[in-house]
Amino acid sequence: MEIVHTLRDLRLRLAGEGLVGLVPTMGSLHDGHLALVKEASDHASCVVTSIFVNRLQFGPGEDFDRYPRDLEADTKRLASAGCQVVFAPTESEMYPIPQRYHVEPPPLQNDLEGAVRPGHFRGVCTVVLKLFHMVQPQVAIFGKKDYQQWTLLKEMVESLALPIRMIPGETIRAEDGLALSSRNAYLSSDERAEAPQLYLTLKRISSAIHAGNVSDHKLIIEQEAQALGQRGWHVDYLTLRSQHALSEPQAAERELVILAAARLGSTRLLDNLECFRSAVP
Ligand code: PAF
Repeated sequence: MEIVHTLRDLRLRLAGEGLVGLVPTMGSLHDGHLALVKEASDHASCVVTSIFVNRLQFGPGEDFDRYPRDLEADTKRLASAGCQVVFAPTESEMYPIPQRYHVEPPPLQNDLEGAVRPGHFRGVCTVVLKLFHMVQPQVAIFGKKDYQQWTLLKEMVESLALPIRMIPGETIRAEDGLALSSRNAYLSSDERAEAPQLYLTLKRISSAIHAGNVSDHKLIIEQEAQALGQRGWHVDYLTLRSQHALSEPQAAERELVILAAARLGSTRLLDNLECFRSAVP
């Protein structure tokens, strides 16, 4: 496995490579990322993992400065996961001139995560488009853990006719159900013990919807959000959407996803669960 820090070295290393697969990350890699790398190696002959903590997608007062960074540990993990090239640009390599051109995503950028983190998806889409130009992959893998990000990026690729096959990666969970995330490192031990409640909440809502015994999903979601509040969570959103474009679900819609973001202390956790309505009311 080779580690490159500049665009020039990246281009030299990738010259003549066949099918290149890209796994974009911000580092602090856990088993969820490694699963994406393994998935990529099923679709590409050369897997590139990028590691770059992208200032553009962090708002003022967010955790850009304290975001965990450990390139040495990350590269060790990647070597054993089947990655061929690590692209770890510096800030000045990624943004040699002030980034004044941006990708402007559709209005979904201001909903859910975007309502709490204005400008976040503009920063994400801009850096991902830039990474696509730098690496020129034929295949790119993104985790469904960040479902809204996945939805927006998939549309970006389609809408801008980028010659890239987008592959979703399933969310990897700890044994107790907590979705793996670099931000889990911020949790105290009490918070870590409480954290799986978010997934349990999603599972309860999903089972009720799947069983078809919910005439008004809003009611059960409201009750579950209140229950989380009583346990000490601050719920930013807990909502049911259509898997397609994350729009408000129509009555006949069957492919749904429950999305949640909630804070435990100062740590904000995201999770989601696809769910299928078996009987349409
Ligand atoms: O999901 C992430 O880690 C980031 O948003 C991404 C896609 C690497 C862009 O910085």
